[in-house]
Amino acid sequence: MLDARCTIMFANLLLSACIISSALQARAINVSVPLGISSNTTEVSPSHISFSIEQDRWTDWVGATVKNEFFSNAITNLAELTGQPPRFRIGADSEDHTDFQPGLNFSELVFPVPSAAIPYPEASSIVVGEAFYAAARNLVPGTHVTWGVNLRSLNLTAAFLEAGAIAEAFNSFSASSGLVLDAIEIGNEADIYTFNGGRPANFTIEEYVPQWTSFASNVSTTVPITANTTTKFWGGAFADSDHSTTGFSPQGLFSNGILRTAPGMLIDTISQHVYSGGGTDCGSTDQCIQDMITKAFIRGNLSQFIPDIAATKSHNLTYVLGETNSYFNHGSANVSNSAGAALWVLDYAFFAATLGIERLYFHEGVGYKYNFIQPVTLNVSIDDATPLPEPLPPHIQPAYYGAIIVAEIIGNTGGLSVSELSVNSDTLSGYAFHSNTGQLIKLLFINSDGFFASSGSNRPSVHLDLDFTGTGQPSPSRMTVKRLEIGHADDTSGLTWGGQTYETPDGLVSGTLSLEEGNVTDGLDIPATQAVLVNLHD
Ligand SMILES: *[C@@H]1O[C@H](CO)[C@@H](O)[C@H](O)[C@H]1NC(C)=O
Ligand SMILES: *[C@@H]1O[C@H](CO)[C@@H](O)[C@H](O)[C@H]1NC(C)=O
Ligand SMILES: *[C@@H]1O[C@H](CO)[C@@H](O)[C@H](O)[C@H]1NC(C)=O
Ligand SMILES: *[C@@H]1O[C@H](CO)[C@@H](O)[C@H](O)[C@H]1NC(C)=O
Ligand SMILES: *[C@@H]1O[C@H](CO)[C@@H](O)[C@H](O)[C@H]1NC(C)=O
Ligand SMILES: *[C@@H]1O[C@H](CO)[C@@H](O)[C@H](O)[C@H]1NC(C)=O
Ligand SMILES: *[C@@H]1O[C@H](CO)[C@@H](O)[C@H](O)[C@H]1NC(C)=O
Ligand SMILES: *[C@@H]1O[C@H](CO)[C@@H](O)[C@H](O)[C@H]1NC(C)=O
Ligand SMILES: *[C@@H]1O[C@H](CO)[C@@H](O)[C@H](O)[C@H]1NC(C)=O
Ligand SMILES: *[C@@H]1O[C@H](CO)[C@@H](O)[C@H](O)[C@H]1NC(C)=O
Ligand SMILES: *[C@@H]1O[C@H](CO)[C@@H](O)[C@H](O)[C@H]1NC(C)=O
Ligand SMILES: *[C@@H]1O[C@H](CO)[C@@H](O)[C@H](O)[C@H]1NC(C)=O
Repeated sequence: MLDARCTIMFANLLLSACIISSALQARAINVSVPLGISSNTTEVSPSHISFSIEQDRWTDWVGATVKNEFFSNAITNLAELTGQPPRFRIGADSEDHTDFQPGLNFSELVFPVPSAAIPYPEASSIVVGEAFYAAARNLVPGTHVTWGVNLRSLNLTAAFLEAGAIAEAFNSFSASSGLVLDAIEIGNEADIYTFNGGRPANFTIEEYVPQWTSFASNVSTTVPITANTTTKFWGGAFADSDHSTTGFSPQGLFSNGILRTAPGMLIDTISQHVYSGGGTDCGSTDQCIQDMITKAFIRGNLSQFIPDIAATKSHNLTYVLGETNSYFNHGSANVSNSAGAALWVLDYAFFAATLGIERLYFHEGVGYKYNFIQPVTLNVSIDDATPLPEPLPPHIQPAYYGAIIVAEIIGNTGGLSVSELSVNSDTLSGYAFHSNTGQLIKLLFINSDGFFASSGSNRPSVHLDLDFTGTGQPSPSRMTVKRLEIGHADDTSGLTWGGQTYETPDGLVSGTLSLEEGNVTDGLDIPATQAVLVNLHD
């Protein structure tokens, strides 16, 4: 068992003391791992983990006049691992509360009164000028952006002015910036306009399609968006999907003819939004965390989209989760920002990839509980809006480790593909990764058995034995193991990835890299609430 052997501290090449594995007898699981080229793998986009930004405080993220160094570092960490930065979708709920005033210096925001449940509410009114969009110049070079314009207000002039200012901003960026406007999104979650006063209760997909088309027609001329431009439209962006041809869903868009309209022909991506639920009625913080990371919960939440993905792909369109995260209303306190969320990100992102979801835009807003990154100093608690004893500088939250690990697995060689391993366990997920030449090179295991501060001192562990099947390459004999170590699933800090931390003042990695070398035949131990990356070699 690997834990019982030796840990090699690579940075100083000292052989540290051998770690004695848990006194508890580890539960043993055999996992069958397919070698060589498999027909059942899915290529993972280098920007598989991307971000959606609530646009009211957009300039806080990148920096208005001066680049936000912390944010830039946190994104550059990811870009360096995969060779390209995460993509951004900017807009969300506040996109539909945005008006435009030419010449305005950035933005004028009106915020509702914060509550314990929502300490950082999104602005109820947002008026922006050209400079608001031009702040995108502070994004990490090479970033691709999808930006939303207001449909809910049914004010074509506002959407037209916003789209024009977005186009003008991107036209002003130098080619060497590599900043690309991927798409314009017209309206956020139009399917729930009926709940938020945007449309009458009898608003249907049949009425939505011509409204979208009339706005998109204008925007396509304004930006411009044509068959020959890189910039296209995103379609959908619905809060839910009823999966039917008569409701708000990709199927409903297609059956109502959107792709036969002139601007509809310029849709290249269908975007769906999804959260796992409210995260408030699971009984306790620990139970909510356990639910969030549970294998069946994640699979159930994502599998509902299988027919939507198939319908989208039948039209050769890309399918993304354009806005997603763990629990809605900005996350569940002490749950969405818990260490467990890092495990959730890993399992959620790779399971989504196996379903053919091209990219996930994890939603972020200043002070939201489910953030990967808190880009500016916070003065009130994200849990309950109580004033903090002292200001909390920019920092990453546990979910960020999930993004780092996904990016590290994807790497920068291109063409990495994923398949889920069949693991006979309710609490252990496994994924196999094949290189662009079809060789099995890495494995990821996620032990989602929650180990909490209240769990006592005996931490359960599973022992895994790997059984290679198939042909096409020699069976790997050796492995390098890298662990995401978590104190407790309900901790909100103190994680380490290969012994290193990203919980630093500048967001850059710190600490000595710690990896374990082992023989594949020995298998490995995985303690509860831990993820391990296994790099295989001869
Ligand atoms: C794992 O496989 C080995 C060798 O095939 C076998 O002896 C052992 O019983 C298996 N263990 C489990 C838990 O299935
Ligand atoms: C515009 O806003 C920025 C950032 O808040 C500020 O530094 C600058 O002075 C403002 N410019 C004008 C002309 O008001
Ligand atoms: C788009 O709408 C604006 C505002 O109503 C209008 O001024 C403009 O002429 C429209 N453009 C096109 C191409 O329809
Ligand atoms: C529509 O938007 C324009 C531009 O922001 C604004 O001047 C106008 O007052 C708006 N119209 C309505 C009816 O709100
Ligand atoms: C929806 O309800 C409004 C009244 O709120 C009515 O005027 C309209 O005709 C209804 N539309 C449909 C399609 O039923
Ligand atoms: C797109 O490019 C093709 C080939 O250059 C050209 O024939 C066509 O007219 C262009 N279409 C548009 C909408 O610009
Ligand atoms: C996610 O799964 C949980 C558990 O089955 C369920 O309660 C929740 O409604 C699901 N959420 C979605 C969006 O499917
Ligand atoms: C999708 O692309 C394939 C391959 O290019 C093509 O054969 C097929 O006709 C396309 N389908 C649609 C609906 O455009
Ligand atoms: C979150 O955790 C903190 C620290 O343990 C605690 O003070 C607070 O009451 C918790 N908030 C909620 C809503 O559970
Ligand atoms: C917290 O206070 C500092 C100092 O006043 C301010 O710069 C910062 O914008 C505040 N943070 C938020 C999220 O409002
Ligand atoms: C392919 O992978 C999918 C998703 O992981 C799985 O549901 C399916 O059973 C696999 N098919 C085969 C033939 O292995
Ligand atoms: C791996 O196996 C070799 C012999 O096959 C042995 O010399 C070495 O000590 C083993 N390494 C570990 C970490 O167990």
